[in-house]
Amino acid sequence: MRIDIISVLPELMESPFKTSILKRAMDKGLAEVHFHHLRDWSTNKHRQIDDEPYGGGAGMVMMVEPLDKCISELKSQRNYDEVIYLTPDGITLNQKIANTLSIKNNLIFLCGHYKGIDQRVRDLHITKEISIGDYVLTGGELAACVLADSVIRLIPGVLNDEQSALTDSFQDDLLSPPIYTRPENYKGLEVPKILLSGNFAKIEEWRHEEAVRITREKRPDLL
Ligand code: ADE
Repeated sequence: MRIDIISVLPELMESPFKTSILKRAMDKGLAEVHFHHLRDWSTNKHRQIDDEPYGGGAGMVMMVEPLDKCISELKSQRNYDEVIYLTPDGITLNQKIANTLSIKNNLIFLCGHYKGIDQRVRDLHITKEISIGDYVLTGGELAACVLADSVIRLIPGVLNDEQSALTDSFQDDLLSPPIYTRPENYKGLEVPKILLSGNFAKIEEWRHEEAVRITREKRPDLL
């Protein structure tokens, strides 16, 4: 999978892709992420990419021309499955969206700033608008990292067996059951006996019951 990220602050997104599982995905050639500095597509000598809104009002608007030029150039090089705009007014990211995106080949992520982008960029290029939650960040960069992480870890071969995505919370609309590791007893708090029984059918049954119980308790909306 190739992800092209367009931003005015690409440096904000460097370390997540240079660390741990995402780095390994890159090293294995399973994912590649390319950053594009929007100011490189500015049409004036001040490298301006934003301007005042028509009709007045607070905040600046990201101009249509640099964004159109940047996205058009990328599109002339390969076919993109989606051009995604990270914005608080998009659809809220969930595991299902991450699953769907994880089987795509080429994605563009556009990080918004200021008041947002000129509507004509949306009309011309954007195929999906995604929010990572009902709160407002200073820009789309951290949201782009969250989206990329949620998608890349699902690409076959990125996680090993122990990290398997199949047992994630949300993968079957349930939260994860409690998990334990050594010691068996810590300050009087015991690991549930069933987990020490070696009866894997019973353990699976217990885990499912616990997952349902915890989901009912914390996130009844998922059931
Ligand atoms: N940009 C600013 N806030 C955002 C959010 N919650 N999700 C996605 N992009 C954003």
